[in-house]
Amino acid sequence: MIPSIFAVLISYLLGSVSFSVVLAKSLKGIDIRQHGSGNAGATNTLRVLGKGPAILVLLLDVLKGIAAIWLGRWLGAGSEWIPALCGIAAIVGHNWPIYFHFRGGKGIATTIGVMATLAFLPALYAGVIAIISIVFTRYVSLGSLIFVLLTPLFLWISGQHGPTFWISLLICIFAFWRHRTNIVKIVQGRENKLGSKGGNRV
Ligand code: G3P
Repeated sequence: MIPSIFAVLISYLLGSVSFSVVLAKSLKGIDIRQHGSGNAGATNTLRVLGKGPAILVLLLDVLKGIAAIWLGRWLGAGSEWIPALCGIAAIVGHNWPIYFHFRGGKGIATTIGVMATLAFLPALYAGVIAIISIVFTRYVSLGSLIFVLLTPLFLWISGQHGPTFWISLLICIFAFWRHRTNIVKIVQGRENKLGSKGGNRV
């Protein structure tokens, strides 16, 4: 029991390391949350700092999700719930980081790491469809929402109705909540497109 609680706690603390904030501060001395869309994530890092830093932030944020699941598997005594809870803890940390006044990102890169480790094939299929939607619309936010929506759907269809499914559903709700401003802007046709320099502040 104690190692499991420890794993969930460490996952939250790990998720709280906001790499876009750290990188923007160390490279340009700025708070990324005051620039572009104001989001502490890879998409906004691309807007504000460019391709190289954005790829680095994306990889590190994905890694946080993977590491949380590994930690949960290691300390979770075979429980299917503990890795899933560690995954959600890392995403909560990313979205509401303890080190950065609880103002973080929208959790998508960390979700990719979590879901790809927990349920590779459903995440892969959802990821391919999400990428296609981004290529056609150039809305990263729309692709993100498609990814979080399709993952639980594919899990359910493939007969996985356990902890991973329920956690992916919760992740989906978190992601929609964090993207509420993006959703309004997509509907109004004002959402920032991939490659454009602007950024609607969240
Ligand atoms: O993963 C974040 C992305 O979906 C939207 O980011 O900066 O355009 O609000 P942003």
